[in-house]
Amino acid sequence: MNIKDKPDNGQPCIRLQKFLSGAGIASRRRAERMILEGRVSINGSRVVILGTKVGPEDSVEIDGKPVLQHEAFHYYLLHKPAGVITSASDPRDRKTVLDILRGIPVRVYPVGRLDFDTSGLLLLTNDGELAHRLMHPSFGVDKTYRVWFKEPVDSAAIMTLRQGVLLEDGLTAPAIVRRCKDSEGSNPRILEITIHEGRNRQIKRMCSVVGFPLVKLVRIRFGPLADPGLKPGQFRELSRKEIRDLYYQAGLKKA
Ligand code: URA
Repeated sequence: MNIKDKPDNGQPCIRLQKFLSGAGIASRRRAERMILEGRVSINGSRVVILGTKVGPEDSVEIDGKPVLQHEAFHYYLLHKPAGVITSASDPRDRKTVLDILRGIPVRVYPVGRLDFDTSGLLLLTNDGELAHRLMHPSFGVDKTYRVWFKEPVDSAAIMTLRQGVLLEDGLTAPAIVRRCKDSEGSNPRILEITIHEGRNRQIKRMCSVVGFPLVKLVRIRFGPLADPGLKPGQFRELSRKEIRDLYYQAGLKKA
């Protein structure tokens, strides 16, 4: 394959994984995996080197099917119910978030993940560049969870959650933690916890380490996105303002 930095028509080349995510094929991370798996070719030659450049006149294929440059991006907010997996497919044939969005006219991908038994807000889009940035730790999108416990949570545990908890993969960054109210007033068995990291099972592990394993976990905010009216299993498209706010969070400018 001829690797060029500037094709004849003067338009810039971009990295193959960026091209694929921009075409709405997958997030940048997933596109990188596809390249390394040898599923991508440029002008008929298989490419397995990340960072290979592609220009406007190159023809790119995945698994032998042409990739067309993208026409429009779509953004959906889903209230993922518990008992559904955050993945495009499941070897154990469990229901996936894409099964819920089956009727929509485009292929979108989840931005980050929620555990099988966690419910709450999940963004899905075919805008690979935005998804890549929102998942990247350096952009640190705040995520807020409502957390239910069997026992009342004491102040010492809350203080530790706020300061940082030592997990097996290191100390967590400081979290915002507040007590919640229910219809009968302040409820010591419910907390709201906001974190900007996205480690595996992070909230569950943090709560267990401070001695209060949680019994229920719901994500109520993802960056600028919140929607208390969206019930489990419901989804909707984002408003233009929500998309602009996400772009701002991700350090991108929306044209
Ligand atoms: N933290 C968890 O423990 N689980 C989730 O699904 C999300 C955050």
